[in-house]
Amino acid sequence: MKPTDGNIYPIFDRMLSRSDKEQLLGQRGLMLWFTGLSGSGKSTVAIAVERELQRRGLLCRILDGDNIRTGINSNLGFSADDRKENIRRIAEVAKLFVDTGIITIAAFISPTEELRQLARGIIGAADFKEIYISTPLAVCEERDVKGLYARARRGEIQNFTGISAPFEAPASPALSLDTSKMSLEDCVEKILEIVENEDN
Ligand code: ADX
Repeated sequence: MKPTDGNIYPIFDRMLSRSDKEQLLGQRGLMLWFTGLSGSGKSTVAIAVERELQRRGLLCRILDGDNIRTGINSNLGFSADDRKENIRRIAEVAKLFVDTGIITIAAFISPTEELRQLARGIIGAADFKEIYISTPLAVCEERDVKGLYARARRGEIQNFTGISAPFEAPASPALSLDTSKMSLEDCVEKILEIVENEDN
């Protein structure tokens, strides 16, 4: 009998499990999936949550445009197909982190229900907490931190979410946070409540 008979990936039998990792870390893996317009505050809230988790001795990993769209997804743009592939790869990477027991934050627009369902399906509904950063378009456009809304209005950027490409608000997010109405501290506190409820 060949050593691989009946199991073409024998190494998986020897890998330690997610719960082994979680025991080592003393926490549970969890996906905090942020969705919201460009400029809504996703990255700012993510960074503040990461710092608070670290302060409490909990390991967190943020996935955002800075480390994904400049790296693994540097070949992708903003067509519907590219956004789908963007989210698919992010979800697959995020799953690896969650399965390592890490509290993982994804901070991407992920503008449609279809894209978020894709991510939820890959990661698994039990671990997936959808957090809608619901700051209104008018506020995001007023902030225009990167100057992209102005360029989109001038027609210099095509398919810009909220201007010339759709954003569908999530129907039933675990949490909805409007950063134009709530302080950063309050946003962090609400998210930490979710983490605590998950027994981390
Ligand atoms: S997603 O739609 O595919 O989830 P993602 O979060 O990765 O988007 O990237 C959004 C960021 O890319 C925005 O915050 C903005 O800085 C930049 N960007 C460049 N072109 C566009 C565009 N056409 N639509 C939205 N964001 C864009």
